[in-house]
Amino acid sequence: MSSTVITNIATLVTNDPSLGDGSPLGLIQDAAVVVDGDRIAWTGESSKAPATDNRVDAGGRAVLPGFVDSHSHLVFAGDRTREFNARMSGRAYSAGGIRTTVAATRAASDEELAANLARYLAEALRQGTTTFETKSGYGLTVADEARALRIASAHTDEVTYLGAHIVPPDFADDPSAYVALVTGEMLDACAPHARWIDVFCEKGAFDGDQARAILTAGKARGLHPRIHANQLSYGPGVQLAVELDAASADHCTHLTDADVDALANGNTVATLLPGAEFSTRAEWPDARRLLDAGATVALSTDCNPGSSFTSSVPFCIALAVRDMGMTPDEAVWAATAGGARALRRGDVGRLNLGAHADLIVLDAPSHVHLAYRPGVPLVSGVWRRGVQVL
Ligand code: NIG
Ligand code: FE
Repeated sequence: MSSTVITNIATLVTNDPSLGDGSPLGLIQDAAVVVDGDRIAWTGESSKAPATDNRVDAGGRAVLPGFVDSHSHLVFAGDRTREFNARMSGRAYSAGGIRTTVAATRAASDEELAANLARYLAEALRQGTTTFETKSGYGLTVADEARALRIASAHTDEVTYLGAHIVPPDFADDPSAYVALVTGEMLDACAPHARWIDVFCEKGAFDGDQARAILTAGKARGLHPRIHANQLSYGPGVQLAVELDAASADHCTHLTDADVDALANGNTVATLLPGAEFSTRAEWPDARRLLDAGATVALSTDCNPGSSFTSSVPFCIALAVRDMGMTPDEAVWAATAGGARALRRGDVGRLNLGAHADLIVLDAPSHVHLAYRPGVPLVSGVWRRGVQVL
């Protein structure tokens, strides 16, 4: 194992408030970082960097932790361009569009699904995502859900069983039979391949009682909950998430004061997905309200073919700053340390002693440029587990 020092970093984001400026981002100016094997071995001022085997000059660029994208739906086939086009001509988004992707995904071969996934992951990596979660949810049969999870688990440990995405057309007349399948035979087939269980708790998908039954059954099988909550309307999802100690309540677009209080006082991260509001022309989630109340906020892409077909965390950061009341510092924290919290991971989303050496070099002097220069491909280098991959 060899060690490398990256020097001449204009701004280093460590996400360790005990370092640098003492802010939540733990910013160090004129910094260096030492990578030893797959871990961070040292961070500090460039002039004090220890001797290492190799030396890389960052040329006055910013370095930050790789993005932790804690919410995506990347095991799918088919295309929803027509639905997007109709929406941009005024049609509303509804949960029903998921059925189109379910039909295409069921018809696809394993190889096709694996190739699609690999392609979107490569796309995300080029934009700085070094840790990602992804879900099933476009199979909705025992065999199709299990194969989605098998395919995903070849690429990440953060795999989520979302058999409860919608009630598939084959069960339209008997949703309770579908809930029985999701909590029974399908759970048996899926639990070995997943870490998490998720439910789309929404009108037109699953109600609070169904979501509770599904998440409770998953917990009994060792899966940990996360919930699609309060995306399209007010509802019970957020409160249920906090009650069940879900790692994350995702979307959080329609929140009552009681929902905000529950998030502020619980252990559940509010994961905001601005790509979804952008691509469905919906009302933005109010990040400012959540942050001011003391909730922990994460930012993620929700990359999926229906409601948010972007793999770009930098794009989501720019939206969150422009339209959701976040400062650039808060948005960068939410997309790195916040994502790690939403996945209950302590080894990623930070650049301090012992963390995984997952980092991004920006072609800019500071992380603020991610919001200041929207749409510009600023990620010029990516290191994953100590290896420079871009
Ligand atoms: O997170 N909300 C539910 N699931 C996805 C949408 C999936 C789709 O439209 O295909 C979401 O937005
Ligand atoms: Fe989603």
